[in-house]
Amino acid sequence: MLKGKKIVIGITGSIAAYKIPFLVRMLVREGAEVRVIMTPVAKDFVTPLTLSTLSQHAVIVDPFKAGDGEWNNHVELGQWADAMIFAPVTANSLGKMAHGIADNFVITAYLSAKCPVFIAPAMDLDMFAHPSTRNNIDTLRSYGNFIIEPQVGELASGLSGPGRLEEPEAILKIVRDHFMRQQDLQNMKVMVTAGPTYEKIDPVRFLGNYSTGKMGFTIAYEAAQRGADVTLIAGPTSLVADHPGIHRLDVESAEEMYEACMKEMTSSNVVIMAAAVADYTCASKSFQKLKKSAETRILELTPTPDILREIGKRKTENQVIVGFALETDNELDHARKKIIDKNLDFIVLNSLNDIGAGFGLETNKISILDRTGKVYPGKLQSKAAVAKEIIDFIVKNGTSQP
Ligand code: CTP
Repeated sequence: MLKGKKIVIGITGSIAAYKIPFLVRMLVREGAEVRVIMTPVAKDFVTPLTLSTLSQHAVIVDPFKAGDGEWNNHVELGQWADAMIFAPVTANSLGKMAHGIADNFVITAYLSAKCPVFIAPAMDLDMFAHPSTRNNIDTLRSYGNFIIEPQVGELASGLSGPGRLEEPEAILKIVRDHFMRQQDLQNMKVMVTAGPTYEKIDPVRFLGNYSTGKMGFTIAYEAAQRGADVTLIAGPTSLVADHPGIHRLDVESAEEMYEACMKEMTSSNVVIMAAAVADYTCASKSFQKLKKSAETRILELTPTPDILREIGKRKTENQVIVGFALETDNELDHARKKIIDKNLDFIVLNSLNDIGAGFGLETNKISILDRTGKVYPGKLQSKAAVAKEIIDFIVKNGTSQP
C-alpha cells in the first residue's frame, strides 16, 4: 500500500521523539520514500544522524542552509509529499500549527502541505486536557487534518493518563488504512441526522434532550473525508460542520427534521440516523409566554412522526439505512426488534449503562447489529474512532456503488 508513497515526517521536541526512528524504519521497509524534518528542540531528543541513516536522506532542521545563503524549500516539500505525518507534536507546536505561527521549518512545511496531514500529539495529561490544547486540536481537525489521538498510559512525567504518543505500528496502520480507504465513499450520497430536536412549548421554552450532536457531526465528517457528498440534517447545536463535502441543513423540531429527511433521502445511497429525535411534541403551542400560576399545569403531548420508520418504508433496494438505538435495559432485544420493525439494514446500539458512552462525552462505545441479529461489539474510544468504525462497517457490509 505504501510502496512509492512520498512521506514527510515532522518531529517536534517531545521525549516521545525516541519512537520515530522505528516509524521511519517501518515506512522505508514498506517501500515509502521518507524525508524527515525536525524542530531544533527535537534534535535534543533524537539525533538527525539516526534519522538520516534510517530514511537514507538528509534531515532538514533549519530553514536556511549553513553559510551559503540558500534556503531549504518547504514549498517544494509540500508539493512533493503524498502524506505528512507530524509526530510527536507538542502542545506548543499544536498551537503554532493551529494558528499558522511559522517560526521553524516544520511549521512552514505543515503550512505548505497539499496532501493529507496526520498529527499525533504527545504531552503530559494535564496539558492534553487543557481547553487550549483541545481547542487547537479541534481547529486542526476542522481544517481537514487527521488527528492521531494519544493513548492512555504511563507518561514521561511518571503520571498516568491520556497523552502518550500512539505507537509507531499503530501510526503506520492508520496511514496505510488511509491510503486504502481514502476515497471509498466517492460518488456516494450520504445523509446524516445529528443533534436533538426542540419541541416548542411557548416562545421561550421547549422540550429537548441532552444530545449535543457530536456523534452525528463526527460521522458526517468521516464520510466527507472519504469522498462522500454528505447532507447533514442538524437539530439545534453549537457545533460547526467544517468540511467542504458537507452540506448542512438546520432544523429545530422533529416535524422539520421529518420534512428535510423525506426530501433528502430519495437521492441518498446511505442514510445514518444519529439524531435524538423527540418522540412527543406539545399538542398546542402557545404564541405568548405561559404565565406562572399556583396550579399544577398539565402539558398535553402528541407523538411526533417516526422519521426512521418512514425512511424504512420508503427504502429502495440500493439504499443502506442505519438507525441508532439508545437503550437503558434489554439493549440487544430492543435493538433487534427495531431493525426489523423499522426495516433497517443496521442499527448502532448505544447503552447508557456503559461508562464513557453517552451524551456530551468525547468518547463512545457502540455495538452494531445486522438484520440477522448478529452483534459486532466495539470498544470504548474517541467519537472520531467510533465514526470510523461505523463507516468502515457500512463500507464493508452495506454499500454498493450507485
Ligand atoms: N427516530 C426517528 N424519529 C423519531 C424518533 C426516533 O427517526 N420520532 C430515530 C432516531 O434517530 C434513531 C432511532 O429512531 O435512529 C431510534 O431512536 P430511539 O429513541 O432509540 O428509539 P425509538 O424508536 O424512539 O423507540 P423508544 O424511544 O421507544 O426506545
